[in-house]
Amino acid sequence: MLAHELRNPLAPIMVAAELLGTGVHDAEWVQRTGAVILRQVRHLTGMVDDLLDVSRVTRGLVLIEHEMIDLRTILAQAVEQVNPLIETRRHRLEYTAHDAPLIVSGDTKRLVQVVANLLNNAAKYTPPGGLLRLEIRRVGSCAEVAVSDNGIGMSRELIARAFELFAQAERTADRARGGLGIGLAVVKRLVDLHGGSIAAHSEGPGQGSRFTVRLPLVAGMDDAPPEDAPAKAPADGPVLDVMVVDDNHDAAEMLSMMVESFGYRVRTEFDSNAALGAALASPADVYLLDIGLPELDGYELARRLRAAPETAHATLVAVTGYGREQDRRTAREAGFDFHFVKPVAPAALAALLCDLAQAPRQPGSRG
Ligand SMILES: Nc1ncnc2c1ncn2[C@@H]1O[C@H](COP(=O)(O)OP(=O)(O)OP(=O)(O)O)[C@@H](O)[C@H]1O
Ligand SMILES: [Mg+2]
Repeated sequence: MLAHELRNPLAPIMVAAELLGTGVHDAEWVQRTGAVILRQVRHLTGMVDDLLDVSRVTRGLVLIEHEMIDLRTILAQAVEQVNPLIETRRHRLEYTAHDAPLIVSGDTKRLVQVVANLLNNAAKYTPPGGLLRLEIRRVGSCAEVAVSDNGIGMSRELIARAFELFAQAERTADRARGGLGIGLAVVKRLVDLHGGSIAAHSEGPGQGSRFTVRLPLVAGMDDAPPEDAPAKAPADGPVLDVMVVDDNHDAAEMLSMMVESFGYRVRTEFDSNAALGAALASPADVYLLDIGLPELDGYELARRLRAAPETAHATLVAVTGYGREQDRRTAREAGFDFHFVKPVAPAALAALLCDLAQAPRQPGSRG
């Protein structure tokens, strides 16, 4: 496919050049031929630029800037970029802007590229006159951008490899719209570099597609509920149940407040036996465990949570004063999935919870 796409523009350029060299042509003919060459060279240049970019991005050679950006600005710029294509194909684009800023730390140019690529695909893979939707909302500690269409849809098999380099659906004669098959690979990599995650959904061929990107919000700069508001779950989207266990009351309360400010449900326990009882009675999705607990220490608590069927598949995060390799290994062996050194960086915790909220762990999927 790649060779085919790259060679395609060469044929008209070659023919035009040969004809220019033969006989006498009037000015209008020369002008038209020049226009063909220009159009094809531009197309080719675009592809070469994309290929160079994908090579840089996938080899980790791009530097991501980290500025505070309102995602609504990103969306507006992406829409502006793709609008000509949307109009040419007579699609309707529904875009409901979020009413408050959603601030992420990232690279404006690259985030616009992410959203523009998804919109571009939606416009390409939807028959003319379709409906495209761009949505943005807050889900716990992350912002979610969703691009959906009512176009040709994707098979399960295509969804499974869509983010791989050069992955494309079988090309039928009526679908000459495809590009090089690199857009989504770049998008995935750029989202990763921003600490986010991306997922593709489709009910199947002909049923439209939906791509959701989650990016961690910068804590304290988003539209988090004010302190006195009850820690209610955001009205939309799945949330996580988090349990914080630390015998140091202040440390436990502070960590819990942080988790709550991200928009998740949180329970706080100061004693590991009480925590175990509470966890078995009403399991949480994520446990943030101090290690130096009296009686049952954090490692033992983790082992018991792993051993009980109610909590075996939960995400266990060790929150410790030590970050030596040996401490990390002990934590892993006790069943912890992640290891944070105190004081926990809000951005890192927000990013982790954001990720867990997008892809809730399936039983048995622990790696
Ligand atoms: N919104 C969508 N609806 C249906 N299929 C899609 C959609 N987005 C992507 N795909 C499928 O996933 C494949 C990979 O997409 P990707 O953006 O990586 O490449 P491309 O669009 O073919 O080329 P490029 O983006 O490099 O110009 C597409 O070829 C198409 O088969
Ligand atoms: Mg594409």
